[in-house]
Amino acid sequence: MQLITQIADMKEYIAACRQNNESIALVPTMGYLHEGHLSLAKKARAENDRVIMSIFVNPTQFGPREDFGTYPRDLRRDMELAEVSGVDCIFAPSLDEMYPPGYVTYVEPVELADRLCGASRPGHFRGVCTVVLKLFHIVNADRAYFGQKDAQQLIILRRMVADLNLDIELIGVPIKREADGLAMSSRNVYLNADERAEAVILYQSIQLAEAMYEAGERDALKIRDAMQAKINEASRARMDYLEIVDPINLNPIITIEEDALVAMAVFFGRTRLIDNTFLQITNYKAQMTNKTGL
Ligand code: PAJ
Repeated sequence: MQLITQIADMKEYIAACRQNNESIALVPTMGYLHEGHLSLAKKARAENDRVIMSIFVNPTQFGPREDFGTYPRDLRRDMELAEVSGVDCIFAPSLDEMYPPGYVTYVEPVELADRLCGASRPGHFRGVCTVVLKLFHIVNADRAYFGQKDAQQLIILRRMVADLNLDIELIGVPIKREADGLAMSSRNVYLNADERAEAVILYQSIQLAEAMYEAGERDALKIRDAMQAKINEASRARMDYLEIVDPINLNPIITIEEDALVAMAVFFGRTRLIDNTFLQITNYKAQMTNKTGL
């Protein structure tokens, strides 16, 4: 497996792959890899000739009071995990390589970016879109793999690909969970033992929503209230948001008639965890794999 840190070298590597008519996959990450990231890499491995994983803790998507400085980093360990998951090349640029002095250009996803996570993280999706568009240009992949764990991120990136006429297919990959159901996240290492034990309440509330939906409940407020009550059982949980929205435009849903995204962010101490599920998942899955499926 190769490690590339310079944009010019990455472009040269891709040009050589293109000469060989190889299909190219990009798996963008911020590193500190876990099974969630690796499930993206493994799917990319199965579906493409070349798998490039980017590892870059992107400062422009962190707020001034967020954890950019303390975000966990371990490139050596990441490289070992990536290699056994079939990654061919890691692209790990420096801050200066991605944002040299004088950098001024950003991609602003206007409508969708101020909802859900965007409401409590102003500028977050602007930073995500900016870095992802840069990565798309540097790596010039046929497909890019993203986790449904960050459902809003994937929805906004699909919109960006459509709006900016990008020639890349985005593939959504299901959420990987710990044995007790907690969605895997690089930030789970911040949780102390008590918080970690209580954090499973997010998944339990999701299971509750799915069970209510399967039993025929279509009143989004009733499902939301039941989830809220469940999460309130955890004394350390502090709700950021819990919403049931249309997965295309993120508008709140009152009666669930088509696909619905149930998304939440909950603080445990200073750690903010996110989780989500799709109701009427079959339709949505079909859309997620459709190149133009917006
Ligand atoms: P990061 O949080 O490192 O996540 C990288 C990718 O892994 C994202 O597509 C995310 O949705 C996916 N992922 C994380 N946890 C997952 C889980 N438990 N199951 C499945 N997939 C999971 O998301 C980012 O980085 C950044 O915003 C990035 C897109 C790299 C731009 O900087």
